[in-house]
Amino acid sequence: MIRVAVTGIGRMGGKHASNFVKGAVANAKLVAVCDTDEKVADRFRANYSGVATYTDYDEMLEKEKPDAVVIATPHYSHSELAKKALVRGISVLVEKPITVTVKDANSLIATAKAHPEAIFAIMYNQRSNSIYARAKKIIESGRLGDIQRASFTITDWYRTQYYYNMGGWRASWSGEGGGTLINQCVHQLDILQWLLGMPERIIARCKTEGRNITTENDVIAMFCYKNFDCVFTASTHELPGENRFVIVGSKGTLVITRHKAVCKFLRMDEKQVNARAKRDYGNREDKKYDKEYMFYGIRNYLTDALYGQQCNILRDFVAAVGKKDASLLRARGEEGVNALNIINAINMSAWKGKEVTVPVDPEEYDKMLAEKIKGEKKIK
Ligand SMILES: NC(=O)c1ccc[n+]([C@@H]2O[C@H](COP(=O)([O-])OP(=O)(O)OC[C@H]3O[C@@H](n4cnc5c(N)ncnc54)[C@H](O)[C@@H]3O)[C@@H](O)[C@H]2O)c1
Repeated sequence: MIRVAVTGIGRMGGKHASNFVKGAVANAKLVAVCDTDEKVADRFRANYSGVATYTDYDEMLEKEKPDAVVIATPHYSHSELAKKALVRGISVLVEKPITVTVKDANSLIATAKAHPEAIFAIMYNQRSNSIYARAKKIIESGRLGDIQRASFTITDWYRTQYYYNMGGWRASWSGEGGGTLINQCVHQLDILQWLLGMPERIIARCKTEGRNITTENDVIAMFCYKNFDCVFTASTHELPGENRFVIVGSKGTLVITRHKAVCKFLRMDEKQVNARAKRDYGNREDKKYDKEYMFYGIRNYLTDALYGQQCNILRDFVAAVGKKDASLLRARGEEGVNALNIINAINMSAWKGKEVTVPVDPEEYDKMLAEKIKGEKKIK
């Protein structure tokens, strides 16, 4: 039985803790939780009397000596809390984002590498959506041919002013290290890089629309790859919004929406169609394709409704810790730096008003972020 602790038992950590208590994660026992907010800790203690409850993280690690800890605190604290566990040989599942800046993420990854006895994982729960996993296999198999163009529109993470007013750390440079990109879109940016790899350059524009916040809630960016470009559009203020990932290859097209994908596989590569064409618009035979559908599935809807998609990652993590085998993870902790590199580059491009290379200079990013935080304090 893996002895697990959860730190930060707010909205997300509270759900993780309750999943462990409910027995939704096989071979795991929740032995302790920690939250620096005494009221939150007291509320948890009142509801779950069998779980040791702390307000001091170091004390919890020292006294309980858990095998593994799940970190679900605000973003800036992720790195320090994860390192404190890793150096004690305790496995870590860190909530997304890995942390706020690439410099800090690299330092955390170095600590994890120095402690291979501990499993290091990140909560990228959208990787458990089988549609993305199958799309990745399709791309890797070459069935789409050469990627020619992509676009990801993610505008259905709707957030109201009420949401922003709820938590002091949300949507601020000082509290969360960004807005829509680092909080919500980190999921899609991870999926994007998981399927297509890392872009070489980024040009972006970020805005704040219709909300009293200091960070972005509206983004348009172009990701430049060696042989194609991808347009990324995100917003958290429009309704109804959509979630649409389109990948166009020379042999087919994938259109992935929220819980469904349509794949069109050409019978002939477009390059061949063009080379053979004896007329201006191609002909009907050349345009033929086979259509395949992928669905999220009723079972996934039901388990998500019961436990949340994040529970899949809790299960993988516990299995990986139990077998001491990081290959059982859907996302290793160090992979968290990829989406963060993209986010830091989008921000930097928007701040500078010009194209930037990926990865951006971590030192320069930290300096620019510090300026943003200083500017924000002047407003407050
Ligand atoms: N994977 C997902 O789908 C998903 C969804 C929502 C939130 N999250 C992530 O979960 C994390 C927490 O978000 P949330 O919405 O639950 O926030 P929240 O504000 O509801 O909860 C955070 C809790 O952490 C506590 N805390 C702060 N600093 C602490 C520290 N140093 N040690 C222990 N406790 C501390 C706070 O008192 C609070 O109770 C963030 O990283 C967020 O991005 C992930």
